[in-house]
Amino acid sequence: MCQHIDAAEIGWQKRRMTRYLIANWKMNGDRAAVAAYATALAKKLSPAPADDLRVLFCPPMPWLEAAVQAAGKGAALAIGAQNCHTAASGAFTGETSALMLKDLGVTHVIIGHSERRAMGEDDDAVFAKAKAALTAGLTPIICVGESRAAYEAGETATVLSKQASLLKALPPGGYLLAYEPVWAIGASVTPKMAEISAAHQHLKTVLGSRAAVLYGGSVNAGNLAEILALPEVSGALIGGASLNTEQMVAMIDVARQRQG
Ligand code: PGA
Repeated sequence: MCQHIDAAEIGWQKRRMTRYLIANWKMNGDRAAVAAYATALAKKLSPAPADDLRVLFCPPMPWLEAAVQAAGKGAALAIGAQNCHTAASGAFTGETSALMLKDLGVTHVIIGHSERRAMGEDDDAVFAKAKAALTAGLTPIICVGESRAAYEAGETATVLSKQASLLKALPPGGYLLAYEPVWAIGASVTPKMAEISAAHQHLKTVLGSRAAVLYGGSVNAGNLAEILALPEVSGALIGGASLNTEQMVAMIDVARQRQG
């Protein structure tokens, strides 16, 4: 009888979804701020929590190493980059390969953020970068999302299908996906919860239910609980609100409550 309960509990534990909180600092901060932030988050997460929450910090490229050092070895805080090149090495002035990031101690890399897509990165480049990241042993965090015009035209599902179609060739479970409606980024506005839910369900239908899909776009300590309450949502990619240490710490507390 007792054994039966244990087995059931273990089964329940296994079914619990890992959730992610990812702080994307974009092109903000300086070395001291990055190091202090990574130190504060590592302390907040130490000792490594028994829950299924993973916290990642993606600072600007020049301070990745400072962030890795501040997070410490085997730390509960993972460090990610915001971009990588498709090639492992070569004549690509100013670029950084996924292998170089791996060498720095980075474990994740954001790929295809709408701010990079706006600079000309297309679905083929996003796919090639994701493959390069996986080959280097990094976990890509691949961003997709519709423009305001597409949203208003009711074309969200069509845009997401197109952006996700190449990603079907990637190993399921090998990457994280972030649904970030372009119009909700840095905008103090989010889609309705039913719309977030529908977009996540659609991506899971296209890519398989094992795909972990995070939401991004104007997430903050005030709306995170409601977003994480959606069963399809595996976490959040946070820009502006993540720049503030206290607010990021508050969001970790919110996510932990949702796990409990
Ligand atoms: P935001 O940015 O939270 O400031 O809207 C999110 C993102 O761009 O990843």
